[in-house]
Amino acid sequence: MNLSRRLFLHSGLMTGAALAVAPKMFAEPTLPGWHVGYANAPAAGYPQAEMKLVRGKAPAGLTGTLYRNGPAHFKHGDAYATHWFDGDGMVQRIAIGEGKAVHSGRFVDTPKRRAEMAAGKFLAPGFGTVGDPSYPVMSADDVNPGNISVMMSGGELLALWEAGSPYRMDPVTLETKGLKSFRNDLKGMPFLAHPKREPDGRVWSLAMNGRRVGIYNINPDGSMKAFGMVDIGAAHYMHDWTMTERKLVILCQPWIQTKNIPPFIDGFVWKPEEGMKYLIIDKDDLSKTRWAQGPARSFYHTGAAWEESDGTIRLDAAFYPQPILGTGGGADEIRGKYSGDSVSSKLTMATIPVSGDVNMVETNIAGDFPQVDPRRHGLSRKLTAMVTGSVEGQPGGSALAVQDWSSGKAQVHDFGHDYMVEEFLFTPKGSGAAETDCWLIGTAINTTLQRTEVHVFDAGHVSDGPVAVWQAEYAWPLGFHGTWAGA
Ligand SMILES: [Fe+2]
Repeated sequence: MNLSRRLFLHSGLMTGAALAVAPKMFAEPTLPGWHVGYANAPAAGYPQAEMKLVRGKAPAGLTGTLYRNGPAHFKHGDAYATHWFDGDGMVQRIAIGEGKAVHSGRFVDTPKRRAEMAAGKFLAPGFGTVGDPSYPVMSADDVNPGNISVMMSGGELLALWEAGSPYRMDPVTLETKGLKSFRNDLKGMPFLAHPKREPDGRVWSLAMNGRRVGIYNINPDGSMKAFGMVDIGAAHYMHDWTMTERKLVILCQPWIQTKNIPPFIDGFVWKPEEGMKYLIIDKDDLSKTRWAQGPARSFYHTGAAWEESDGTIRLDAAFYPQPILGTGGGADEIRGKYSGDSVSSKLTMATIPVSGDVNMVETNIAGDFPQVDPRRHGLSRKLTAMVTGSVEGQPGGSALAVQDWSSGKAQVHDFGHDYMVEEFLFTPKGSGAAETDCWLIGTAINTTLQRTEVHVFDAGHVSDGPVAVWQAEYAWPLGFHGTWAGA
């Protein structure tokens, strides 16, 4: 209820006639508290605002910036977005230092957003959106919402989508600076939203283009070291992938594109009889490849991978028995409805032997957004953090789990019924710190208070609860992924 309506009803109580009709005339559906995660953010963004420390104390030495990205505009007039993944991207920035946390947020300034805000309606086709035939589409970047993740590269903050170019953003003001291309002859080349960083700072990423996949190898200063192509045999749906110290590992799920017209999700067909195919590529020679075969699974996110001395590869991922968030994904939630019938995933360790089929060990941790210590992408490790838990009648996760693969046990912190929990990132306490000597930092929406919070855990003691919680005076929409930029 907004202020003007409250005042109107109050004045109505002063007259008997108005009392009888006012509630019926002005009745409107009450949106559930969790809907704040799927509501429009202010068009002008969020100016810098200090968050309040409401639990624990600021961890000494935790200094840096948490950036997150996600869709944050879902409604023009009475029209709702038809897929969660097609909302305009907004980058959230939480600067932490000297015991304080300061939030700001700004939409990625894209041609799509400019055109739709000017028209006051949805125009561009998308992952799950048909689009207006009058909207001109000359390239993928004409429909690019820049809404999945962020990365730092050569001092630039990049807002990432997966079927188009990254957007360059000012890391302090969040002003959009334009499209990023890593080499002049690669303008407009897609860049997946899940790049992987080597311990030496080099970054690998993929460019999806049907069965032909581009492979970026980017220097720590943001310049291109090399770009190559591989053939994965079919146009598999590809949102994430993984790598070891010596190999790139592309997981080809049997969700395959058979037509390339909007809404693009409708062109993907689930073919479980084909199983999951794993393409293993030598980082030093992209022509050296081998394939492995595993049972059919769908996925959005891997954790990470490593290679044993005998060549055996181990990787973990949030595997689903079949695709989720396909046609109409998130459309109900955007309207404030939740059916609660989503398919459950399992955090799974897949072992790829040097020869023979892939073996899988499933945990009982259902959820998504697996994360590992960023210093250990490609290296052996034992911890994987993941959003898990659920609240009846409410979308999203409600708990944070940390699986220890060395013991097979997990630590869990249940946030409770009042929360929707987002991705948590490992942040090492120092350059030589062990995996267990990291903080886990992430966000959660307090659905009762309608406020977004930043929670910090000790990665080795997650079940003890957060060591610090900062709370904003408002909630911003749910995001997908983020990155931590240490000071
Ligand atoms: Fe993702």
